[in-house]
Amino acid sequence: MFAARFERFGPPEVLSVGDLPEPHAGPGEVRIRVRAAGVSPVDLAIRAGRSRSPVTLPHIPGVDAAGVVDEGPGIGDEVFGAVDVARLGGASAEFAVLAFWAPKPPSMPWEQAGGAASGVETATRALDLLDVGAGSTLLIDGASGGVGSLAVGLALARGARVLGTGAPENREFLAGLGAIPVAYGPGLRERVPETVDAALDVAGKGSLPDLVALTGSPSTVVTLADFSGPEHGVRVSVGALGGQPDGRHGLAHAAKLFEEGRFAVPVQRVFPLAEAAAAHAVTGPRRGKIVLRVS
Ligand SMILES: NC(=O)c1ccc[n+]([C@@H]2O[C@H](COP(=O)([O-])OP(=O)(O)OC[C@H]3O[C@@H](n4cnc5c(N)ncnc54)[C@H](OP(=O)(O)O)[C@@H]3O)[C@@H](O)[C@H]2O)c1
Repeated sequence: MFAARFERFGPPEVLSVGDLPEPHAGPGEVRIRVRAAGVSPVDLAIRAGRSRSPVTLPHIPGVDAAGVVDEGPGIGDEVFGAVDVARLGGASAEFAVLAFWAPKPPSMPWEQAGGAASGVETATRALDLLDVGAGSTLLIDGASGGVGSLAVGLALARGARVLGTGAPENREFLAGLGAIPVAYGPGLRERVPETVDAALDVAGKGSLPDLVALTGSPSTVVTLADFSGPEHGVRVSVGALGGQPDGRHGLAHAAKLFEEGRFAVPVQRVFPLAEAAAAHAVTGPRRGKIVLRVS
């Protein structure tokens, strides 16, 4: 099969499209013919050799994908999902094996579906931990990126009021998502215009003391990216791709919200698979997911 893969760790240019053996679905998995696959920070870290999780080379990046089932239960179904945590990749290829998935709403574009799964599950898990619901006011630090923009949409769909931090050039983008924009960076606690009940740190850029001061307690703050969390009494939430099969419910719920017109997956840019290296090299302010169109 064809796949974007790399044979040595390094800059985006180590990625190119070539032939590799097809994977096959194991018990409890499906194999899909991939239509679109997401690009995530973990893919960049693994490619650069910055990940502590070992991968064997050649490696196919990508944890999120959408496509048509061709092995396992539901052959012919259009689905979106993510790979098993142990594989840490495999999505940016002609065929990929998914460990969890949900039916793709027929009207959801492939690009949105392909970039959704791990971000939706991660955001859902964090919103659950913070007990975000109707009437809550939530501050999201790092709201414009792949996970943050999904957290904004899912929190709004729960009836929460959402404040989201971003770069100055992303004010309009954040307001378009339905969040009240706030500039990120030092001094955050002085810029937040109202009291917040809960705060989610998606960025991991050192804002935890500000977030604790703003909510009034570390118990109402969760971080996805700052492993110093426990030093501040703050919970670190990890495990988007595994370890809690019973806890996964975000994807099917997001599909339902999409069908009701209450949720969408913000997509910043779509690249053809042949330009996977360019997709890994995107710089500048983030506005949702980067996605590869595979077929
Ligand atoms: N714990 C888990 O289970 C889990 C799961 C998935 C991802 N993650 C982690 O979560 C983090 C975010 O992932 P992602 O996919 O959303 O990444 P992303 O798409 O690259 O977005 C990162 C966001 O952080 C913002 N940012 C940059 N500097 C900031 C600052 N000083 N203060 C506040 N925000 C700032 C960026 O804004 P600009 O681009 O505008 O500067 C962007 O919106 C990554 O570290 C990722 O590894 C954790």
